[in-house]
Amino acid sequence: MIAFSTTIKYLSLIGSFAVVGTLLAMGFLLLDVHGKLSTSAEKLRSILWISALTWVLGAVGNILFTLATILDQPVSVAFDATMLRSFITQITLGKFLLFQAIVALIVSLVALRVQKILTVIFLLALSLIGLVIPIFQSHSASSGSHALAIGSLVIHVVALSLWVGGVFTLAILDPKDRAIAVPRFSVLALWAAIAVVVSGTANAWARLDFKAAWSSAYALVVAAKIILTIVLICFGYAHRKNLYNRESIDWKAFSRLIVAESLIMVITVAMGAWLSSNQAPERPGKTVFDPALSVAGISSPPPPTWSRIFFSYEPDALMIGILVTAVALYIKGVLVLNRRGDKWPVGRTVSFATAISLIDFATSGGLGLYAHFAFSYHMVAHMILGMIAPIGIVLGAPITLALRTLPQGRNSDERGVRGSLLAALHSKLATFYTNPIVALAFFDGSLFALYFTGLFGSLMQSHAGHLFMNIHFLLAGILFFHVVIGIDPNPRRVPHLVRIVILFAAMSIHAFFSVALMSASTLIDGGYFAALKSPWLTDLLADQRIGGSIGWAMGEVPILLALVATFVNWMRDDTRETKRIDKNIERAAAMGQPDELATYNKYLQDLAQRDRNES
Ligand code: HEM
Repeated sequence: MIAFSTTIKYLSLIGSFAVVGTLLAMGFLLLDVHGKLSTSAEKLRSILWISALTWVLGAVGNILFTLATILDQPVSVAFDATMLRSFITQITLGKFLLFQAIVALIVSLVALRVQKILTVIFLLALSLIGLVIPIFQSHSASSGSHALAIGSLVIHVVALSLWVGGVFTLAILDPKDRAIAVPRFSVLALWAAIAVVVSGTANAWARLDFKAAWSSAYALVVAAKIILTIVLICFGYAHRKNLYNRESIDWKAFSRLIVAESLIMVITVAMGAWLSSNQAPERPGKTVFDPALSVAGISSPPPPTWSRIFFSYEPDALMIGILVTAVALYIKGVLVLNRRGDKWPVGRTVSFATAISLIDFATSGGLGLYAHFAFSYHMVAHMILGMIAPIGIVLGAPITLALRTLPQGRNSDERGVRGSLLAALHSKLATFYTNPIVALAFFDGSLFALYFTGLFGSLMQSHAGHLFMNIHFLLAGILFFHVVIGIDPNPRRVPHLVRIVILFAAMSIHAFFSVALMSASTLIDGGYFAALKSPWLTDLLADQRIGGSIGWAMGEVPILLALVATFVNWMRDDTRETKRIDKNIERAAAMGQPDELATYNKYLQDLAQRDRNES
């Protein structure tokens, strides 16, 4: 049974990695023609289709074998329609596996028709989500420090799919296309390989007791993977030597290397599939039942103190991975500008860095830890993620930085990465989201949708739900503050008066929400905090009320500051406009042209005089 389920998991992994690699080549590595696929990229569509079909087969098989494993029955039992239906509609793992199969199916259905680069990028993002979603309910989710175990495995798989999938695709490209794709891929492969090693090591660290587990088959496979990874890194080094240290590239040597590299990857992926279908050995020692560990995935921390809040750290590997990537890209952008001799205001960098540190504090820091255990701390974290950090991000102007530094097209026909970002910014979707009413609905409307329905309690119970909630707060905040005080380009011009009205509306809705929360006489968490049984938190309703008042106090200040900033900007814009008109008049007078404003005034006076004469 384990052998079959490992084989099926392997099929699914190989299919999905090939899908990601092909989409990566079509969307980023090969040339595009004014935002559409080039003939070389179009040739990859059939490969994409075959890979997606393989993924569909693997994903469907994965559903059946996972159900059979859970039931501890032969796989034929999993074909029972009632059993299968309840697994994919009522059990979270079943729902996630179904989502993966649907994503694979969507890619297979559109693979042969896809034409636009933006569609390819969308499919790539969707495939990555479909690929990692079951990890949130995999056996990593049941290990101790699960935010580390899940997050590191998600990063492991995303980085692997880009690296392994990219190598597979390079191996089948013809030499002309390969020469175009390789320089871009080699930069990406280096970073992906680093991410694979760091995340794989972090996951092994979270799963294994290093002293006790080394004789187990699981640990031996991890050790074998480490050795094969070192061999793969040596291959990468040989590629770079061939590509960058010679006058002309030896493409025959390149082909030999890439075939050998692909073979080793195929073996290493098989080992990964085996690991993910087998349990890591239990940690030695007495296992005491900890309700917090089984509900929140974290052991109950001691009572909160200032020092514990500021200095504890419970790594949420996925959030850390996202933040590290954002910081690395920002630093890269600033360095590119510096090298070019262009200036980038220090204030923007400081603002961005402060926001990133705050996000880390509210997710992996002491605040993030206690936010799992008490509503009041959850509310502080929410306000930081949704109200304060977004202002820092928006004032850091990351889109402007990206537009100034992203690579241009590699020939006159190519739109390139920068062009794709511009096209996305001007798309109908971007115009829709940046409508002030839509931004306000996401920003404030989601407060009511989350806290005054059963959603909050159910999202808090799973790592995926908690992560989704944090990312939603952050993105809704970034969207809102981008529309009202943003310095990055916006697809639509929002008049200052509209911004002020929107800010006043946000303030009132926020106050209304906080008062409703403070006066609620029942708990809104669906029993989540009570189930954790934290000995230091006895009055949950009082804590919820404190949360409401924190939400009010912390939420109104950033909006008020944004209001002041908008007023000041409005005044400045008016002064600038008056100066511009004055300058135009002076310029016209100096060139002996008539003063437009004086002529217009004279025209109005003449009209008034005529009216008087007629009456
Ligand atoms: C330092 C090197 C590496 C270490 C320490 C490492 C460790 C791990 C660990 C601990 C897991 C978790 C398995 C589980 O869920 O129980 C894993 C999963 C996996 N690894 Fe690695 N790994 C490394 C490199 C690689 C490489 C180079 C490849 C492929 C080329 C690879 C492919 C995989 C795959 C396919 C999985 C399964 C992912 C899933 O569950 O969907 N790993 N690895």
